[in-house]
Amino acid sequence: MKIDGVPYQSIWRGADGSVRVIDQSRLPFEFATVELARVEDAARAISSMMVRGAPLIGATAAYGLALGVREDPSDTAIESAAAMLAGTRPTAHNLAWALSRMRGTLVGVPLSARAEAAFSEAAAICAEDVEQCRAIGVHGASILRRLALAAPGRPLNILTHCNAGWLACVDWGTALAPVYRAHDDGIPVHVWVDETRPRNQGASLTAFELAAHGVAHTVIADNLGGHLMQRGRVDVAIVGSDRTTASGDVCNKIGTYLKALAAYDNGVPFYAALPLSTIDWSITRGEQIPIEQRPESELTHVTGQIETGGLATVRVVPIASRALNLAFDVTPARLVTGLITERGICEASVQGLRQLYPGLGSAG
Ligand code: MRU
Repeated sequence: MKIDGVPYQSIWRGADGSVRVIDQSRLPFEFATVELARVEDAARAISSMMVRGAPLIGATAAYGLALGVREDPSDTAIESAAAMLAGTRPTAHNLAWALSRMRGTLVGVPLSARAEAAFSEAAAICAEDVEQCRAIGVHGASILRRLALAAPGRPLNILTHCNAGWLACVDWGTALAPVYRAHDDGIPVHVWVDETRPRNQGASLTAFELAAHGVAHTVIADNLGGHLMQRGRVDVAIVGSDRTTASGDVCNKIGTYLKALAAYDNGVPFYAALPLSTIDWSITRGEQIPIEQRPESELTHVTGQIETGGLATVRVVPIASRALNLAFDVTPARLVTGLITERGICEASVQGLRQLYPGLGSAG
């Protein structure tokens, strides 16, 4: 996607072979790119949320492992680099998926060839993610096209939660890929952007992306979605996913479940968009998903731009109060109208996923 006319992906290799990312903790006010020189840098970038979003976490871990292998290609070093990366964030399945794929690639490769093999596999993971997200966009746009036909003469109102755009992936995004595809195809769309407290990925990142691409959007308080649905002002909700069970339960940014409940109560279609790397075939129940608990400070403080231009962090909760910062929740499959994947759209169920991915759904 483009920023000021310049095409970017969220992670890339420079001409000198360096691995670079966008520092998302500074967006939307400062656009800075950062080099990840060592595996420790990649681990820190993931845990601090300089990079975030399930597919990008996986892609960064893949390059992180490659950086580690470049320093030391021994089996022991690979084990410890993979353990360091795996411990950064527990919920997004893409992280374990990418690390397992990277380690599998290196089995039997001579030490002298491991770094090259690792970088090439990390690049393949990124390229596949781009293609999968592009395909999610095509499939999801078919839903938006159909809904738009039922709403002639006005933009289609799409609600999304958190940031599941190109910044959360390598390019295109998951939930936002259908929006970009539809917009580029000339379908008039308008996006309700949940601010997504505590870290405001909606207000900061989704709004930034949509503005940069020229997509009409309005940032709303997280709690407004239900009211807008009651008043008929949401045609469809599309969210991403950090981990989807083999039975179609969808784990995503905290607050997603409440949006799904409101959508269900108001007859608003509720879709989750996700690539294969997000599906955890080993589990069938949402409560088996580890939910990340992040620092209280993310809830007790907010960061924004001050009038003189710099960034500042201020406290918004009394000093004596404790805060509970659980980062994700699970939306049961029964509340999900459908899953939009790179292979097409399916019911959120064991059968639905098995039809799209025959041979993969071993659980349940
Ligand atoms: O905590 P984050 O910002 O990594 O959470 C991101 C989300 O919840 C996204 O919706 C999810 O990763 C789907 S991404 C394409």
